[in-house]
Amino acid sequence: MNLHGLILSQESNIHQSQRIWMRILAPLCFTMLTWSCQPDKPPVPKEYPEPTPYTWTTRPFFPPPILPSDNPLTLQGVELGRHLFYEKKMSGDNSQSCASCHRLNYAFSDSLQRYSTGIDGIAGTRNSMALFNLTWHTRFFWDGRAPGLRQQVLMPIQDPIEMHQTLPETVRKISETTKYKALFGSAFRSEEVTPDRIARALEQFLLTVVSGDSRFDRFRQNPVANPLSASEQRGFDLFMREYSAPSTGRPRGADCFHCHGGHLFRVDAFFDNGLDEQPATGYESVTGSASDRGKFKASSLRNITLTAPYMHDGRFSTLEEVLEHYSHHLKNSPNLDPNLRVANQSEGGLNLSSQDKQDIIAFLHTLTDSSFISNPAYKMPLD
Ligand code: HEC
Ligand code: HEC
Repeated sequence: MNLHGLILSQESNIHQSQRIWMRILAPLCFTMLTWSCQPDKPPVPKEYPEPTPYTWTTRPFFPPPILPSDNPLTLQGVELGRHLFYEKKMSGDNSQSCASCHRLNYAFSDSLQRYSTGIDGIAGTRNSMALFNLTWHTRFFWDGRAPGLRQQVLMPIQDPIEMHQTLPETVRKISETTKYKALFGSAFRSEEVTPDRIARALEQFLLTVVSGDSRFDRFRQNPVANPLSASEQRGFDLFMREYSAPSTGRPRGADCFHCHGGHLFRVDAFFDNGLDEQPATGYESVTGSASDRGKFKASSLRNITLTAPYMHDGRFSTLEEVLEHYSHHLKNSPNLDPNLRVANQSEGGLNLSSQDKQDIIAFLHTLTDSSFISNPAYKMPLD
């Protein structure tokens, strides 16, 4: 190659590299130019309309609901809560949601398990609790250690033997899931996920879970159209009558209403129902008072046929075993309820005949609400 040739080839090399640079730089410059044209402001957050207030349906004979004034129920808040209740990302390994231990078919209690098993395969020491009519409860858990529903709902997430996940991790995983942007936005008018908002949404959903359409409710509303059978009626009468020692000559009562009475079939309080001579701590862990040892939250007996096994530790598998306990095996513990103590001292228990027990169980069956467990509003959302 002569000198001219060399210069020419160098020139064409320069042209080529310039062309390559132009190709890279031109779009870049264009982008930067268009950027610089726009004012420097953050992306505009999506605007969400005011959520729609949730209308509470009152049920005949039920007391008015006790709803939190600082967390008004809205359709969008309740819907978000339902999604979170069924959301497996709420647990450390994405394997469990609240609904894993609270199944609608069993009135939101666990299936036939005595103790529920958490994500690490470790079983707790308490039987899962049914969830309905919670608007009328003031304390939560068998021993009452959660002072409100909003506080309670964040506990199972963090509990090492339940869902075992920190709140920041929960917030991160939920924030990353696309569908929750719209759900949080609609409920709270901002897409930001916070533990407080998770708690508020779960509280809203759980407060709407109401059961009040059992055969017994229909009987109360129209006894002529929906009568109880003779056995059910006799069971109801025993349930509602106070215990009287045989020496009084008064008709025998089973005394259940003292703790499971009223239209909700529960009294909002803690009692010792004679399970053990040396009972577990129970409500004492909240009050610190020895006079509350062995006292546990009185369950509602609505839907009781769906929530076996029974008692805080699930020790009884059947209602027959429960009735046998009250009838003959009450333990004389220090805080045994005074009503049951009278029966215990006089006859070792309520001393119910097998017919009495059968009739009480027949009556308890009338408290099962099949429209509750098939209510689409409580089912897993289809997304
Ligand atoms: C691993 C099983 C398990 C999971 C998961 C679970 N729970 Fe529970 N839940 C229980 C058990 C067991 C109890 C009773 C515990 C106790 O009293 O110590 C309970 C009690 C409750 C109560 C108290 C009810 C009452 O009447 O006092 C509420 C409310 C509740 N759970 C809601 C939830 C929510 C909301 C979630 C999801 C964030 C959840 N649970 C996840 C097992 C579970
Ligand atoms: C002094 C109050 C009291 C009386 C009277 C009483 N109960 Fe209870 N009952 C309780 C308490 C408290 C619990 C929960 C105890 C626990 O788990 O430690 C309970 C639990 C139950 C359970 C199991 C609930 C569940 O969710 O596992 C059934 C069923 C039951 N009682 C039926 C009856 C019947 C039927 C009668 C009448 C024969 C009766 N009770 C009388 C206080 C009482």
